[in-house]
Amino acid sequence: MKNIKAIIFDAYGTLFDVNSAAEKCKDKIGDKWEGFANYWRTTQLEYTWLRSLMNRHKDFWQVTEDSLDKSMKSFKIDSSMKNELLDLYKILSTFSEVPEVLKNLKEKNYKLGILSNGTPALLNGLVKSNNLDNLFDDIFSIEEVGIYKPDSKVYDIPIKRYKIQKDEVAFLSANTWDVSGGGNYGYSSIWLNRNNNIFDNLDYKPKNEVKNLKQLLEII
Ligand code: LAC
Repeated sequence: MKNIKAIIFDAYGTLFDVNSAAEKCKDKIGDKWEGFANYWRTTQLEYTWLRSLMNRHKDFWQVTEDSLDKSMKSFKIDSSMKNELLDLYKILSTFSEVPEVLKNLKEKNYKLGILSNGTPALLNGLVKSNNLDNLFDDIFSIEEVGIYKPDSKVYDIPIKRYKIQKDEVAFLSANTWDVSGGGNYGYSSIWLNRNNNIFDNLDYKPKNEVKNLKQLLEII
């Protein structure tokens, strides 16, 4: 890839493992923990899209709690677990290769940023609890524009801050719709396809696909 000046990462599902909160409770939740975690995530994202379309913004923490509430009812999980799951969501683990790859990219002098639906407090907390504090130049939250991805106002945030061309941003996301959102906007989007999934039919097909973030070092 040529002319990349900034590498911008999606947060949830890309740097941080959204299933890790439920996984840490799998002894209490039982075998259904993974189905429950996937349902929680899907509902959370649906709420972001629906709230954006209805023009009824609530921040990502409220959306996370609302979607958890519905998911716990759907999967008949005892309501006494709610606070434990929410607390764990504030300290989600990174995928294993993330710290090392970020350190390596930092040495190469790219601008490194996060661009996420998360609130500034949530994102700063995740970065801190995983000891990634000094690696990012900026943590961009959609709260700056008050609408969720994939609205183009969100993808505009780093472009305005760095005053660079859209295709000078390498945008990494494991969320296919977010890869399309960034790509349709004009980013050089890269799909982080950890689980051999099928890409969406949403106009943009990424030229680059990696199986883990280490592979990013080979193409950047
Ligand atoms: C985020 C969601 C899309 O971090 O994963 O923005």
